[in-house]
Amino acid sequence: MNEPYEFYEAGADYVRTRMPFAPQIAVILGSSLGPFAERLQNTVEIDYHEVPNFPVSTAPGHAGKLMFGELAGKKLVCLAGRFHSYEGYDFEQLTQPVRLLKLLGVRALIVTNAAGGVNLAYHRGDFMLIADHIKLNGSSPMRGRNVDEFGPRFFDVTRMYTPELRALAKTCADELGIRVQEGVYFFMPGPQFETPAEVRAARVLGADAVGMSTVPEAIAAAHCGYEILGVTLCANMAAGVLPQPLSGEEVNEMAEQSAPHFSSLILGCLERL
Ligand code: HPA
Repeated sequence: MNEPYEFYEAGADYVRTRMPFAPQIAVILGSSLGPFAERLQNTVEIDYHEVPNFPVSTAPGHAGKLMFGELAGKKLVCLAGRFHSYEGYDFEQLTQPVRLLKLLGVRALIVTNAAGGVNLAYHRGDFMLIADHIKLNGSSPMRGRNVDEFGPRFFDVTRMYTPELRALAKTCADELGIRVQEGVYFFMPGPQFETPAEVRAARVLGADAVGMSTVPEAIAAAHCGYEILGVTLCANMAAGVLPQPLSGEEVNEMAEQSAPHFSSLILGCLERL
């Protein structure tokens, strides 16, 4: 897939006819942060399948709608339902929502996820602010003809996870008494969890957490100039760290348990943005 600018504009044109305001900030809700959207006020929802050229979410627990609403005095749009490469999407397709929202005027992206803790000093349930990432799997989501309207062919990603937003999130977490780490997110395509050897390799390479989302969207967002805050919930310790095998249930349980803290942290960040 290598779509022209007009492909993204078609979706944005449709959403403009339905949205109640031009949003300033977008939040991609990982599976662990679904309940966050319930806090929005004056909500307007648009199902993904109504939006021209939008991918459709298949992951369980991912609702699949754009939710516009106000919170902490900010005009927000939440992506309730995200797309993963393990669902069969090309990395290029994962750029579509981020690009569409950019056309609506969004300047900052808060991207959330659940992941496995790789750093042996981390604990299950820790939050991690993403300082950087490693993606060694597959091609770049920006592969193919560059869409110049979004950004240049070659672009710098030295500061793609905006240091100022990270600092703000850290201050906010400290005030709320929520423990946060800062570290490197290692992208793996899934859907199988990693092998213990892959986790050991990731650790040697400098990873602190490993997960199956976020990075393709973040690269697309960096290309078109968003400020980015990435927040990870370490819902389990990654494979091989602890003696027991991993399970999706373990991840979901911790996600559910952490949702109130996760929501408070994001809310606190929004108040300061
Ligand atoms: N690995 C990859 N993705 C994940 C994990 C993990 O251990 N936990 C939650 N999402």
